Amino acid sequence: MIKNLDLVQVTNLRLGEYQDIAAKVISSGWYLQGKENAAFEENYSRFIGTQYCVGVANGLDALRLILHAYMEMGVMQKGDEIIVPANTYIATILAISDNGLTPILVEPDLATYQIDPEKIEAAITARTKGIMIVHLYGQCAYVEKIGNLCKKYHLKLMEDNAQAHGCKYRGQVTGSLGDAAAHSFYPTKNMGAFGDAGAVTTDDEDVAKLVRTLANYGSEKKYVFDYRGYNSRLDEIHAAILNVKLEHLSKDNANRRKIARYYIECITHPNIVLPIVQDWDAHVFHIFPIRTKKRDGLQAYLQENGVQTVIHYPIPPHKQKCYKEWNHLSFPITELIHEQELSLPMSPAMSIDEAKTVVTLINNWKE
Ligand SMILES: Cc1ncc(COP(=O)(O)O)c(C=O)c1O
Repeated sequence: MIKNLDLVQVTNLRLGEYQDIAAKVISSGWYLQGKENAAFEENYSRFIGTQYCVGVANGLDALRLILHAYMEMGVMQKGDEIIVPANTYIATILAISDNGLTPILVEPDLATYQIDPEKIEAAITARTKGIMIVHLYGQCAYVEKIGNLCKKYHLKLMEDNAQAHGCKYRGQVTGSLGDAAAHSFYPTKNMGAFGDAGAVTTDDEDVAKLVRTLANYGSEKKYVFDYRGYNSRLDEIHAAILNVKLEHLSKDNANRRKIARYYIECITHPNIVLPIVQDWDAHVFHIFPIRTKKRDGLQAYLQENGVQTVIHYPIPPHKQKCYKEWNHLSFPITELIHEQELSLPMSPAMSIDEAKTVVTLINNWKE
């Protein structure tokens, strides 16, 4: 079976290094807010190109903490609106509503799957305080038009960089393009920990300080609580693993691009829509999304022939029960993506031979 993402295969790329560093942390007796964390925050902020990085417990918390920081700063208030792509993973939207803010869903561009920059301005109202772009599937969502809209309407530009570690926009790494960015290191991500982990990057000292404080029960000084915070810290063991993973990220992303290039060059089935790549630097192929009208049939056929695929995502956020108030809304492009998308196997450990098997099966598919 060729798995969609084989985490054993990925870990085996450098199992010894992970075992060594994990053993070091275990025997150190220091498991939170220590040397590994400090090193990771320094390394990752340098890599992203921001002044600050704060390690947190997961990507959802990173998103929530950024917005919570802006609420504490008085930049945002309950009921204010945040623009967000309608086809994102639910976490982006949960973080907004969790803070008492209102998510305003905007359709993606069908060619890129990213928020459609042409549809954003019409969604801006007097209550809009920010735009949360999501570099979905590992592709850059930022375009100059979005930056200009933020300037024109005095909006915060936030990036959900959960799926795009190492992605670049005109040479600049995503996570440094806006006012603050959230990163997830969930195990399946391009840079995945061995459990939940996340980070916030920003050049804004106030945001960085507040995120750190809020993630530590709202406390800067032991047993003194200035805010109603959470417990959302990055474990030393994850920070240590992430320090190793960061060293290899470019190589890992290069293999993803190699597989993606092979898929794009060799899949010739007439009824498959392949991703459009304008700039190979602006894509790190967290996911390799294809579209086809008979998606479920293709998925079953590949599964029967030993290839595991995944759907990102089967139900759009506005059709989920947890957002019942939106269930009557219609976002045709988002819905079409959710009906037709299929993610082919993709990983830093995947070989061209495995990709060849996938391609041959797809090209021989009789709908
Ligand atoms: C786009 C996006 N945002 C946020 C998250 C949340 O990250 P986490 O699972 O680390 O909470 C994820 C992934 O899980 C994601 O894909």
